[in-house]
Amino acid sequence: MQFQNTLEYARELDSQDKIASYRDQFIFPQHEGKNVIYFTGNSLGLQPKSAKKYVDEIMTDWANLAVEGHFYAEKPWWDYHERFSEKLAKVVGAKPAEVTVMNTLTVNLHLLMVSFYRPEGKRYKIICEEKAFPSDQYMISSQVRFHEYDPKDAIVEIRRRDGENNFRTEDIIAKINEVGEECALVLIGGVNYYTGQVLEMEKITKAGHEVGAFVGWDLAHAAGNIELKLSEWKVDFAAWCSYKYMNSGPGNASGCFINEKYHNQKDIPRFEGWWGHNKERRFLMEPEFQPENGADAWQISNAPVLALAPYLASLEMFDEVGMPALIEKRNKIVAYLEFVLHEIDKEVESSFEIITPSNQEERGTQLSVFLHGEGRELFNYLMENGVITDWREPNVIRLAPAPFYCSFEDMYQFGQILKNGILKKTKEDRVSKRD
Ligand SMILES: Cc1ncc(COP(=O)(O)O)c(C=O)c1O
Repeated sequence: MQFQNTLEYARELDSQDKIASYRDQFIFPQHEGKNVIYFTGNSLGLQPKSAKKYVDEIMTDWANLAVEGHFYAEKPWWDYHERFSEKLAKVVGAKPAEVTVMNTLTVNLHLLMVSFYRPEGKRYKIICEEKAFPSDQYMISSQVRFHEYDPKDAIVEIRRRDGENNFRTEDIIAKINEVGEECALVLIGGVNYYTGQVLEMEKITKAGHEVGAFVGWDLAHAAGNIELKLSEWKVDFAAWCSYKYMNSGPGNASGCFINEKYHNQKDIPRFEGWWGHNKERRFLMEPEFQPENGADAWQISNAPVLALAPYLASLEMFDEVGMPALIEKRNKIVAYLEFVLHEIDKEVESSFEIITPSNQEERGTQLSVFLHGEGRELFNYLMENGVITDWREPNVIRLAPAPFYCSFEDMYQFGQILKNGILKKTKEDRVSKRD
């Protein structure tokens, strides 16, 4: 496609966008009376307008029905979480019984490791990626120590080659084969939070299984962003947060996938609570735990319905639009952003290095850009001019134009603001050198 870096052309792309109307379903922070250009859907998605209504519904039911709301609310609270399974299953490519929504991401990964990190004899090592998201590093290290192993020995990191920004599948598979029968678990981020690289989850899962290990995925940056086929890929387990691309609200609940082959395994270790108990018998208050069918057996406490309400509001939009339409727009808007960056690069002295893979199959919504010759002032300039993005050391901005609510015009306008920020600094530098 021959893109153009003009306002007219960006508007033309917006007019062809089949899901453009969804932009109006979200609330944008304002900057000088206009919507901000929002690039941090990979951190906290915007608020869907319907979220408040879903929360108010529960507040009203609570006011009018109090405890009776558990059974007689508009959407009864006792099985509120079940409204997620079917819709969430479509987002992650699973069967409805394989997904559930509970707790928060790191908590869920810990709980899933109770079931899927079971070191024994010489099989005790965990393979993860180098520089994994810090919470994953702490989680994995504390699990290993909990089982009385030394993290230096029990955690094996997959590394990027010198001078390369991304992982190579062949290196990941080679590492899995090298650790071989010592490998108890492979646990990696499906989309790398720093670079936006999408890993080849199917191949890696197969390689892990071939050496007899369990394979789990942290899908924080994948859910609602890329196509997932967790059942087909035979993934053992996965978890994701919902506040990024899934727009559920700050710190909100996590989704979990547990492959159906584990659902009726009687001896699978699991931390249990009453919400995982057979729902027909839950209120009989029996002493012995009888697991629910499916991933719901991993539930522990009763569902935090007030928190789940905005998540449900957003999930219903995902269901309406569908991942294929989101992915189609995502590919186009990210390609346009990439084009705009290259065009601006030609007009300024500093240079941008996009460290996210250029191949569409290996990336989702995020482009991570190394700003050579620029510093944090440029990031500050963007923020002061209505562009919300984020900055990661040493010199990287992450740009994630969520297809639900970002427009092609946003990409064009961003390019202009970025150019002006760089030119302003170049001019100031020249003046200060002259002075
Ligand atoms: C890749 C990744 N893993 C784990 C987490 C931690 O999520 P939580 O704080 O919800 O446990 C995050 C949060 O941003 C993340 O990006």
